[in-house]
Amino acid sequence: MAEYPQVGHDLLEGRRIVIGVSGGIAAYKTCGLVSALKKRGAEVRVVMTENATRFVTPLTFSVLTGAAVEYDMWAERAEDALTHISLQEFAEALLVCPATANIMGKVANGIADDLLTAGIMAASCPVGFAPAMNCEMWHKPAVQDNVAKLRERGCWIVGPCYGALASGAVGEGRLVGSQQLIACLERMLLEQQPPGIDLRGRKVLITGGPTREYMDPVRFLSNASSGKMGHALAEQAAAAGAEVTLISGASQQIAEALGFAGEFETVEVASAAEMLAAVQDNIAGVDVFIAAAAVVDYTFAEIAEQKIKKTAERLTVELGRTRDTVKWVAASPQRPQMVVGFAAESQDVVSNAAAKLADKKLDLIVANSIVEPGSGFGADTNRVSILGPDDFRADLPLMSKWAVAGAVLDEVARRLP
Ligand SMILES: Cc1cc2nc3c(=O)[nH]c(=O)nc-3n(C[C@H](O)[C@H](O)[C@H](O)COP(=O)(O)O)c2cc1C
Repeated sequence: MAEYPQVGHDLLEGRRIVIGVSGGIAAYKTCGLVSALKKRGAEVRVVMTENATRFVTPLTFSVLTGAAVEYDMWAERAEDALTHISLQEFAEALLVCPATANIMGKVANGIADDLLTAGIMAASCPVGFAPAMNCEMWHKPAVQDNVAKLRERGCWIVGPCYGALASGAVGEGRLVGSQQLIACLERMLLEQQPPGIDLRGRKVLITGGPTREYMDPVRFLSNASSGKMGHALAEQAAAAGAEVTLISGASQQIAEALGFAGEFETVEVASAAEMLAAVQDNIAGVDVFIAAAAVVDYTFAEIAEQKIKKTAERLTVELGRTRDTVKWVAASPQRPQMVVGFAAESQDVVSNAAAKLADKKLDLIVANSIVEPGSGFGADTNRVSILGPDDFRADLPLMSKWAVAGAVLDEVARRLP
C-alpha cells in the first residue's frame, strides 16, 4: 500500500494543483471541478489555451480560483503570474481537463507552442489528461497512438467514458465525472503511478447501497447510504480488469445521476433477504467479495399487504434480525479467496471494526466514521482505516470515495495469491 502521509487531513488541503483547460465543449464542466477542488482546500491555478477561452472566459476561472488565469505566452505579467517556467515550481500535479485531441497530439510529439503546452513540457510534477471529444475523433488511430505514447511516458489518462456526447451521438468520448477527476488528482498526488491495480482474470462481487425493509407497500426502514462507495468500488475493479457484479440496494438512480459508468453488471435488490439471495446466486467462482452495502439489521415481523391507515395514536411493531450477508459468505463452502467487509460506526470506529473483522472471519475490513464531517453516508469523500487480521492497519486521509475504492482494491490485489 502507498504511504499516506497526511492521516487525519484532507488529502487535497493546501496542495498546489494546476488545471490546464484546452478548447473542447466540455470546458464548462471544468468550472465545477475547479470549484470542488477549492472547496476541498486545494490551491488551484488555471492555465488555458487560447482556443479554450472561446468556450469559457478566463474571468470565470479567475473568480473561481481567486487568481489570475494565464493563456497568453507573450503577455507581460504581474510578478506572481504563472509562466511556463514558474508553473513548474508551483504545480504538485497538473491535469489537462478537458484534453482535446489537438493538445494530446502536440504534447505527445514534443510541440510546445503556447503557454499550456510549454508549461507541460517544463513540468516536473505528475501530468494527467482527461480526454473529451466526439467518439469518431477518439477512435482515430492518430489520437489513440498519441494517448498510448503519453501513457507510456508516465502521464495519467483518466477517461473518457461512454455516454451522451455534445454532438448528440452516444459513444466513448465523454469527459469522466468530477469524482473520477478528483480521484485521479489524488492518486497523482500520492504518486501511485499507472498502470495501478491489476485484477485481470478475477471475478469480483460487490454489494452497495442501502437495503429497505418494508412495513407495508409504502413505508420502509432504511438508512442514508447513497451507494456511492459500492459504485466506486465496482467502477474501479472493472477498470482494473476484473469481471464485476454489483448487487445494488436502492441506489441505482443516484449512481446514474452521478455518472458512474463502468463496465460491470448490476443486480438491483430492495431488502436484506433479497440482497443475500442475489449474493448466493452470484457467489460461484468469485475471487473477491466486498460488502460495502449498508444492510438494515432489522426487518418487520409482519408486512401488511395494504397501506396501514393512520388511525391509531401509537403503533407498536415487532422487528426481527435480518441475516448477515458477509458472515454467510465468509462461512460458505464457496468462500472467495478474499472477503472484505465495511464497518460504518459512530463511535470507537477502529476497535468496533476490529471486533467485526475477527467475529465475521474477514480478510480485510474498511472502517469509516459516519459522524465525522465529509465522511460516511451520502458524502463524496470518506476517511477510512483498512484493517487486516495480521495486525495490518492503514489510516487513510480524507479522500474521494473513488480514491478510497482504489486504495481498498490495491490492498486486495496485493493479498490475492
Ligand atoms: C464547438 C466546438 C467544439 C469542439 N469540441 C471539441 C472537443 O470536445 N474535443 C476536441 O478534441 N476538440 C474539440 N473541438 C476542436 C478544437 O477546438 C480544436 O481542435 C482546437 O484546435 C483545439 O485547440 P487547443 O487544443 O489548443 O485548445 C471543438 C471545436 C468547436 C468549434
